[in-house]
Amino acid sequence: MYASFKSIGAYIPAKVLTNNDLEKMVDTDDEWIFQRTGIKERHIADNDEVTSDLGVKAGLIAIERSGLTKKDIDAVICATISPDHFCMPSTANLIAHKLGLNHVTSFDISAACTGFIYALNIAKSFVESGAFKNVLIIGAEKLSTIIDYTDRTTCILFGDGAGAAIISGTDDKEKAIIDVHTGADGSYSDYLITPGGGSAEPCSIQTIENRRHFMKMQGNATFKVAVKTLTKDVIDILKKNNIKSEDIKHFIPHQANYRIIKAVGDALSLRDDQVILTVHKYGNTSSASIPMAMNDLWEKGGLNSGDLVLLDAFGGGLTWGSAILKFGGEPSLASIK
Ligand code: UT7
Repeated sequence: MYASFKSIGAYIPAKVLTNNDLEKMVDTDDEWIFQRTGIKERHIADNDEVTSDLGVKAGLIAIERSGLTKKDIDAVICATISPDHFCMPSTANLIAHKLGLNHVTSFDISAACTGFIYALNIAKSFVESGAFKNVLIIGAEKLSTIIDYTDRTTCILFGDGAGAAIISGTDDKEKAIIDVHTGADGSYSDYLITPGGGSAEPCSIQTIENRRHFMKMQGNATFKVAVKTLTKDVIDILKKNNIKSEDIKHFIPHQANYRIIKAVGDALSLRDDQVILTVHKYGNTSSASIPMAMNDLWEKGGLNSGDLVLLDAFGGGLTWGSAILKFGGEPSLASIK
């Protein structure tokens, strides 16, 4: 039994926050943001939309496109750093409930921007071991709730959204997830951190006044580790599986910064048409960025059954991961020319 990436879905909130909007909020400008990151705009969820709502909308689409029904889903895994509630219940519990999946296994994982690849690794193991047949994995983020819109070093980067996929069993090797790598190094924990609110700095008037509940990032230091680590990781996963970079149909990286994506793509000598980019229109949506980018490709008709896909991600922790797979789903109607 292999695990197969059977479908993809995403939900993108309607409201758009442009670089020009941010110019009115902090000391920045469109040219700086675009040149340093490749970002032009990002989407922001409504006040009455919570992370689980975004996850439900993406999840429903992924279930429908898989050809399965809700009753076929055995487990829900949600990767998020902006859960509905701190500690409990998990956002996955709430997503499962809102989907009407009341008795399935559901839990969150915390691996920041690498969360979707961690969830993929867990789902693959569940399916290959026979524990579960069909697992719904979701990356959902309402990052606008943990971003400090007075801090120009972070608020220009992030957006909201959700992406979801169904991972199912198959005996067809041509539709299988080939390999998933995940890793972490907690010695870099202060590079990307929300310092306040946990046991290290319990919530208090001081933590709130000092804005300790918002995300803090050492951007330039993170950038350097990201390029070095991701480049090594993607080279390793291809080498281990005896796959040449020219054979990759789609490289779908975490969309943090165009310059990181370009550096890793260049290290693999990838052509522009192999590299999927959505950073310009969604910004960095953490765990949701890879499935949102994959969904974009699928909806345009670019992702077909059996296509060889390479994923990579890097984020707070620090965490990183990569995956190589053959897409196991059906193409979208847009692919029929
Ligand atoms: O997804 C999770 C993982 N995250 C990442 O991988 C993000 C990694 N980091 C990055 O993408 C980049 O480091 C940033 C886009 C965050 C920053 O780009 P950079 O080229 O590393 O800039 P920098 O931090 O070295 O800052 C350069 C200058 C500084 O001014 P001085 O000290 O040279 O006078 C900053 O104060 O740019 C200034 N600056 C800004 N200027 C205008 C920082 N933020 C802004 C801003 N607008 N928004």
